[in-house]
Amino acid sequence: MKKIAIIGAGYVGLVTGACFAQKGNRVTIVDNNQDKIDQLLKGAIPFYEPHLDIIVQDALAKKTITFVSTIQEALSQQPEFVFSCVGTPSLPNGAADLSFVEIVAAEIGMHMEQYTIIVNKSTVPVGTAAKVETIIAAKLTERNVKIAFDVASNPEFLKEGDAVNDFLMPDRVVIGVRSEESAEALYELYKPFLTSDKQFLVMTQPSAELTKYASNAMLATRISFMNQLAHLADKLGADIHQVKHGMAQDRRIGAHFLNAGIGYGGSCFPKDVAALVHMGMEQHYPMTLVKEVENINHVQRVWFSHQITNHYGPALATKTAGIWGLAFKPETDDIRSAPAIDVIKKLLEQGANVIVYDPVATENIKKIFGDLITYADQGQQVLQNADFLVLLTEWAEFTTTIPSHFLQLKDRVVFDGRNCFAPEDMKALGVSYYCIGRNSVTDDVPLNHYHVAATQHDSSAWQ
Ligand code: UDX
Ligand code: UDX
Repeated sequence: MKKIAIIGAGYVGLVTGACFAQKGNRVTIVDNNQDKIDQLLKGAIPFYEPHLDIIVQDALAKKTITFVSTIQEALSQQPEFVFSCVGTPSLPNGAADLSFVEIVAAEIGMHMEQYTIIVNKSTVPVGTAAKVETIIAAKLTERNVKIAFDVASNPEFLKEGDAVNDFLMPDRVVIGVRSEESAEALYELYKPFLTSDKQFLVMTQPSAELTKYASNAMLATRISFMNQLAHLADKLGADIHQVKHGMAQDRRIGAHFLNAGIGYGGSCFPKDVAALVHMGMEQHYPMTLVKEVENINHVQRVWFSHQITNHYGPALATKTAGIWGLAFKPETDDIRSAPAIDVIKKLLEQGANVIVYDPVATENIKKIFGDLITYADQGQQVLQNADFLVLLTEWAEFTTTIPSHFLQLKDRVVFDGRNCFAPEDMKALGVSYYCIGRNSVTDDVPLNHYHVAATQHDSSAWQ
């Protein structure tokens, strides 16, 4: 049993703390948002993440977890490990904003009382572990105390919607350290989650920090590759779905993250891709491939909305658009960088009415659009009230819909940003079905136009 403090009760901090508590450790989670702490003390999770509520409630009952609102209070418990899990949002130039990480490091330096291993779990640029060491050392000097400490980089690889499983059964645990002592201690902490010691990877701090960006950028690259290939498939009369299956059988390629669609969103890929581009610029080594991944993702979103405006022209102003799916992916209520935000804005700009439904993300989207759009309680309500449907998140309740239900749409038109249905089924029903790379509805003129813009690397043309 170890004593652990977790700073930041977001997706990452809360999942990390809850899973450590489940293994019998004593966990104190800190967040400077008092409302969050009050909710958590009652066992209520401030966001939707499958299984997390049960683990937190169980830990509260067993008193293995507690929630406090100051770092000082958490450190007074004398934890052996302090995990920093605060946000690192993008600055306007693409760099990661480290201000929260730095504030947390300073506070740790001000209040730590004995040897502690400080673990950076937030996604932070290379060099941040060293920066955190410097900040803490400076605070200890100011206090005129000598307390030994280690800083470790331990990037998270949690997928929202499946984060608990990812933590309990990780593919790998990456640890960047400067001392063997801290590597040993972290190995003991993570041992209950490992099925093999080979999953525990010890490396230098910069390597660990870069591994996180490299992993997310690789996954984003696969998605953008497939999105660009999908347009070529359409032009050549190939079906991206079949091409994907043909590729995926090669074990060197595999099947994951090859789904063409409206492009990636979420709190990680867009910000981490931008940060990697920025790190390259800082080193005078432009990350041209990764920059293009970002461009393709941007173009893909704009292209998707253009499909709708091209189909309807000015008549769009007389239409009601139905949206299925607001979250950036299924099994989460997170709408950070969700395609739905851009698509709804575009539809409103064109004067359309918009009715939306999502199983769990509606309350979050309400904070952006208020009474500008209508909120349905069920997917069916959208079909009954809309002229056409836009599918943006592949929730199971959408993908298992029997296609004949789309005949309720007044115009019988579906724009599918997630390639959920077979184009031939839709055609047989008389539904105009726009999807991605599957030769559904072909509007030759716009497709040519998009290709020219994409190859000119001119994403501004898509604004
Ligand atoms: C965050 C980072 O954004 C991501 O880069 C990293 O990989 C993991 O940590 P997430 O958990 O999704 O991801 O962030 P968020 O939901 O914003 O949670 C951060 C929490 O920290 C919030 O609850 C916020 O209130 C809290 N916080 C922030 C503090 O307690 N103190 C601070 O100084 C700043
Ligand atoms: C990601 C990483 O997967 C995780 O390891 C990391 O630590 C945090 O960032 P997350 O953002 O929760 O996790 O979601 P993920 O499942 O990776 O999906 C990201 C985006 O890619 C979503 O918008 C999703 O719809 C999109 N996507 C995913 C595709 O467009 N096609 C695919 O084939 C897979």
